[in-house]
Amino acid sequence: MERTFVMCKPDAVQRQLVGRIVARFEAKGLKIAAMKMLRISTELAQRQYAVHKGKDFYEPLLTFMTAGPVVAMVLEGNDAVRIVRSMMGSTFGPDAAPGTIRGDLGVSKRYNLIHGSDSAESAAHEIGLFFNAEEIQDYELLAETWLYAASGPNRI
Ligand code: RTP
Ligand code: MG
Repeated sequence: MERTFVMCKPDAVQRQLVGRIVARFEAKGLKIAAMKMLRISTELAQRQYAVHKGKDFYEPLLTFMTAGPVVAMVLEGNDAVRIVRSMMGSTFGPDAAPGTIRGDLGVSKRYNLIHGSDSAESAAHEIGLFFNAEEIQDYELLAETWLYAASGPNRI
């Protein structure tokens, strides 16, 4: 089972879209392993987006990410990183395909509602930035037997 880090950004909270966004992931069959609301400090935003340091959008990005509370979560499932990225859609609302979160819910080239880890390595790093081990729940989903056709590491 793969874990990924997902965040409803400040615009998603302010536009009261958190429930609709989370509902999409639940309906898809991804398991919520952790979830909390927090206000990101500038320091945490700098750590999360360290790869973008020096780019022209870096400072506005820090301002955006610290402008209000966010909802951070850990989602779990086979191929969770790739599934979440495809459900998010491409980076900016005007370019994102209909049917994706960004494509259906946003029009901005800065306020893009959601973050999702772009690799298993980033996921591990970002989960560690936002959650302690005891904040992540290891439990069996009742529906699990009907989410995948075979159990174990080779779920189908
Ligand atoms: P994210 O990291 O937030 O999940 O988004 P992403 O992978 O789709 O996009 P990325 O290239 O990692 O950019 C991180 C965030 O920076 C803002 N951004 N603004 N040219 C711009 O004005 C610009 N480019 C990127 C977006 O908020 C993007 O999500
Ligand atoms: Mg990114």
